[in-house]
Amino acid sequence: METIEEKARTRFLRAMARVKNHMYPYMPRHVAEVERWALYLLEKNPKADRTIVLTSVWLHDIGWKFNRTDIDHAILSEKEARKFLHTTGVSENVIESVAHCVRAHRCRDIQPQTIEAKIVAAADSATHFTDINYIIHLSDGIKEYARGKLRRDYKDVGLFPELQKELTPVYEAWKKLIEAYPELPKRGDRTELTPYKFWRIVEDIMTEGDELCSRLMPGETRKLGYVAIFSKSETEEKALFEVAGTLGTLIHETPTGKVYRMSGKAARVSFVKVRYYNPQKPQRGAPDYLVPDYEAFKKKYHNDTHFTLIKRPAYELLKLSDEQGGAVAYFPSAPLEIVLGIKEG
Ligand SMILES: [Fe+2]
Ligand SMILES: [Fe+2]
Repeated sequence: METIEEKARTRFLRAMARVKNHMYPYMPRHVAEVERWALYLLEKNPKADRTIVLTSVWLHDIGWKFNRTDIDHAILSEKEARKFLHTTGVSENVIESVAHCVRAHRCRDIQPQTIEAKIVAAADSATHFTDINYIIHLSDGIKEYARGKLRRDYKDVGLFPELQKELTPVYEAWKKLIEAYPELPKRGDRTELTPYKFWRIVEDIMTEGDELCSRLMPGETRKLGYVAIFSKSETEEKALFEVAGTLGTLIHETPTGKVYRMSGKAARVSFVKVRYYNPQKPQRGAPDYLVPDYEAFKKKYHNDTHFTLIKRPAYELLKLSDEQGGAVAYFPSAPLEIVLGIKEG
């Protein structure tokens, strides 16, 4: 009889065979590689449940079949995993355990809590050290993304300190390779800014912001208001405006950039601001967060060395920055429409 993990594998490969998107050629080999690392970690952690781990491995990226970049694929994968598991007759316990592994595999808004979820997340990240993931990003011309991804992967394999130690030499080698990788002049549609790359940039900014906040103001409630992308050149600025215009509607122009309302089922972010090229801004971009009670938030943090108070005519904002990585995030005092300049305050 087919085991549940074999069924999950078939389900995943079938789903991937039906979609023809940029992720398809990479996905089956990626997940097979995740399985290899998961088996390795299972051997070192014999108490972990093998069925839960391997079933989760085959379902963790199944959300890519929806071919969407506006919703976190971990959310879509969890939904699809639950749907599939309900048809197999496994117990509710198994469904919940697998659902958690799948949902937490990116170590972002939901952190892995169980040994099985930790194995899936660490195996997923470890895979990138032994496969072509960074090379794909480099050859797509998104070096910054490759750099951020490597850093996050290294952090996530730290779920198992032994594994991180083991992977340190290859991490150092990738770091050197990424820096040394030549940036060829743009040619043809391969290096053009696609909607996929646009969302990747947005996602990268959100991830950096999440990391910054959870490190420097842990447990604080915040809601993403919008994401600002800082154009890195005049050429990129033009391309960003063009792609943003196809993904959303231009609603306002400010002296520093253009604001777009993202349409479609853009569940992760409703507004994106594309800033004009400004060499003074070294970051890839910055998220703006709204806090439930700005005055209380200000009282608590304005003396904290990581925060800077900035006064604007219609409102003020606290800037959170980090001396190590250079990531920034903003916490404005006013509602979004005033901040974005949609309505003058
Ligand atoms: Fe994933
Ligand atoms: Fe994955």
